[in-house]
Amino acid sequence: MPKTMIEPFRIKSVEPIKMTTREQRGKLLEEAKLNVFKLRAEDVLLDWLTDSGTGAMSSAQWAAIMLGDESYAGARSFFRLEAVIQDITGMAHFIPTHQGRAAEKVLFTAVCKKGDLVPNNCHFDTTRANLEFNGVEAVDLVIPEGLQPSLVYPFKGNIDLGRVEDTLKQHADRIPFGMITVTNNTGGGQPVSMANIRAYSQLLKKFGKPFIMDVCRFAENAMFIKMREDGYQNKTIKEICQELFSYADGAMMSAKKDGMVNIGGFIVLRSDKWLDSVREILILTEGFPTYGGLAGRDLEALAVGLVEGLDEDYLRYRLRTAEYLGEKLEAAGIGFVKPTGGHAVYIDAKTVLPDMPLDQYPAWSLCNALYLEGGIRGVEIGSVMFGKHLEDGTETYHSMELVRLAFPRRMYTQSHFDFAAEAIAEVKIKAHLVRGVRITKQSRYLRHFTAEFRWA
Ligand code: F0G
Repeated sequence: MPKTMIEPFRIKSVEPIKMTTREQRGKLLEEAKLNVFKLRAEDVLLDWLTDSGTGAMSSAQWAAIMLGDESYAGARSFFRLEAVIQDITGMAHFIPTHQGRAAEKVLFTAVCKKGDLVPNNCHFDTTRANLEFNGVEAVDLVIPEGLQPSLVYPFKGNIDLGRVEDTLKQHADRIPFGMITVTNNTGGGQPVSMANIRAYSQLLKKFGKPFIMDVCRFAENAMFIKMREDGYQNKTIKEICQELFSYADGAMMSAKKDGMVNIGGFIVLRSDKWLDSVREILILTEGFPTYGGLAGRDLEALAVGLVEGLDEDYLRYRLRTAEYLGEKLEAAGIGFVKPTGGHAVYIDAKTVLPDMPLDQYPAWSLCNALYLEGGIRGVEIGSVMFGKHLEDGTETYHSMELVRLAFPRRMYTQSHFDFAAEAIAEVKIKAHLVRGVRITKQSRYLRHFTAEFRWA
């Protein structure tokens, strides 16, 4: 067999993407106040802002959409999806929501109280925000290896069990449950090992605490386990997922990731202890328990997508995609979070723009340069996103200056990635021409979405 890993699908429906000139992109970026969030998507060639809800559905999913039962209560589509989710997760209770953060809001509102503390490897930003909104302290306890971008380690998403135990000992009465995020998005899309999950679950059990997983990218995590962890090489992805879920008491999922759909999410719970209060908040904020903010057709598409997301050929290609771009960046002398994660490549902007001062926001500037050079849209994970403008006019900066290129599922082919690698390498060659930026307007919270800039 040839070694090249091909896209394990053929294309049945296409959507044109628009070529623009550098001059046009310069004008468009200035109109967008040097903030790629403000660009029109149709002016972007390779849109790698997020892997969330942006993927291509299969012909089987589109066909399933026609089977959607749009009944308000007790729809057939609910029961079809429930059976699929019960099979993969082994959990009795399935509660649909319209996306991941809605699942967070419903569960946390039902279960947490002010003054609580929730440990996790790394909370995703909406998870943290939803906890903090409820007065809960969100504590990140990823292993030290997970915080070193250039260090190669197989499971950089693992939680630090020693620090978890200390936290459980010190704050037992404040902890409603322990969490883990698979894969660890905030930490570079890095996987968590089965051994780590098993040990963490035993620790939580010892302290009588439930274990809740954030499973947006559980299938990608399972594929990493199959490829990297002893004892899993001959197991199917579904078997690995079933074992993973067997350690949890509940889970939340943004189905816009490994669910292979454009919208959707859910909560699953093993016992009925929290069920009534969860359903109460669900009805108040999302909808009736058998649709939870989704249309019947969305439930159908998800029932098919969850199964397609477990396909090994697909997952192998999926993880290889990020690895392939990583290899090209490595050859061009560009640093990134290593090894590459499941859904994205996180470029270390300091390796492209080593001389740019932090107050000109190197990762933001690199993000702009990628758009100018190749029409590529990524997202800054640096000092615009995580730094703060203080009352006295000074700024705090983030420890890392990263640009995340997150890949929609089943959408781009190898030549798109070759093109991107060439464009990124070109930016590095012309790094002395990349201009820094200054903020001219910003909001108090989540400023990166709406901030405006001028050239430094
Ligand atoms: N948890 C994780 C780990 C996530 O990555 C996301 C979303 C959510 C929860 C929230 O889900 O968007 O459906 O409400 N991540 C997207 C991203 C937005 O770009 O990484 P949601």
